[in-house]
Amino acid sequence: MKAVIYARYGGPEVLRVADVPAPVPGDRDVLIRVRAAEATKSDCEFRSFRLSVKWFWLPLRLGLGVTRPRRRILGMYFAGEVVSTGGRVTRFAPGDQIYGSTGLLQGAYGEYVVLPERAAIAPKPRTMTFAEAVGVPLGGLNALHFMRRARIQPGEQVLINGAGGSIGAHAIQIACSMGGQVTAVEHPIKEDLVLRLGATDFVDYTTEDVTTTGRRFDVIFDMVPGSSYGRLIGLLRPGGRYLNGNPRLSVLVRSVLTIRFTDKTVTVAFAPESTEALAALTEMIEADQIRPIVDRIYPMDEAAAAHRRVETEQRLGAVVLTIAEGPP
Ligand SMILES: NC(=O)c1ccc[n+]([C@@H]2O[C@H](COP(=O)([O-])OP(=O)(O)OC[C@H]3O[C@@H](n4cnc5c(N)ncnc54)[C@H](OP(=O)(O)O)[C@@H]3O)[C@@H](O)[C@H]2O)c1
Repeated sequence: MKAVIYARYGGPEVLRVADVPAPVPGDRDVLIRVRAAEATKSDCEFRSFRLSVKWFWLPLRLGLGVTRPRRRILGMYFAGEVVSTGGRVTRFAPGDQIYGSTGLLQGAYGEYVVLPERAAIAPKPRTMTFAEAVGVPLGGLNALHFMRRARIQPGEQVLINGAGGSIGAHAIQIACSMGGQVTAVEHPIKEDLVLRLGATDFVDYTTEDVTTTGRRFDVIFDMVPGSSYGRLIGLLRPGGRYLNGNPRLSVLVRSVLTIRFTDKTVTVAFAPESTEALAALTEMIEADQIRPIVDRIYPMDEAAAAHRRVETEQRLGAVVLTIAEGPP
């Protein structure tokens, strides 16, 4: 099969298309023909090893390969079709249109990928194409996890810091579906996008500091590495909830003190990826609560250009690679 591979860590130019052996499913596995994969910031970080959260470097390097990548095919998020299933698989059948996450197994930049039946896989939303659907799992699963933990009540004021990114853009839509009033903090190029997705207020972080505007919030969802924890906690109303998807060590330590000595709640977590959550996202999409957000679509032999697009930080939505096209 054809796959986008990388044999060494480095810039986008290390990505190339090559012929590699197709994976073989075991008894409890599903063989998936990948139609589209999302090119994500994490893929770029795995490729370059320039990480926004520095303390990940050592454990990740030990996990992914010290001198060169152990798994040569990147890609954690896919949409495609089931080709065949192992003898003990009960949830899927050949021909099912699905989408999901490979987790750290990766491999979504290849024409075929094998995953255990219990991986985060769900039926693809009927209302989306493969390219649209593949933009959902990363942002949607993370956003749904944090928005559920925020327990947003109708009418509550929600601040989303980094609202135009993959996770933030889904968080806006989910928070609005829960009845929250969203203030989005972002770069001005993403103002139209976040307002279209349901934010009612916009703060341009390049010209204004939201912590000095006098506004107060019930929920703050913070996706920005290096944001000021102390100043953001200071914006919370009594009983407010702060959620952080970028767990720096200092925030981990300070969150213990906030929880112990104030009436505020802090959630610093890695979002688990589950079939249940993905199925919930499918329902929200089919109920028109979550819309597709695709920036650009690239063929697989332009994977390097797709990574460059992600790394410019200019994208408005998901950057998508089309993988296997046409009939099998
Ligand atoms: N906890 C978890 O389970 C989990 C899972 C996946 C990812 N993450 C982490 O969560 C973060 C967000 O992920 P993502 O995929 O949504 O990333 P993303 O798509 O890059 O979104 C981040 C957004 O924040 C904006 N931003 C940058 N600086 C800002 C500032 N000072 N104020 C407000 N907005 C700012 C960026 O805009 P510009 O750069 O264009 O200005 C970008 O739109 C990443 O750092 C990622 O590593 C956490």
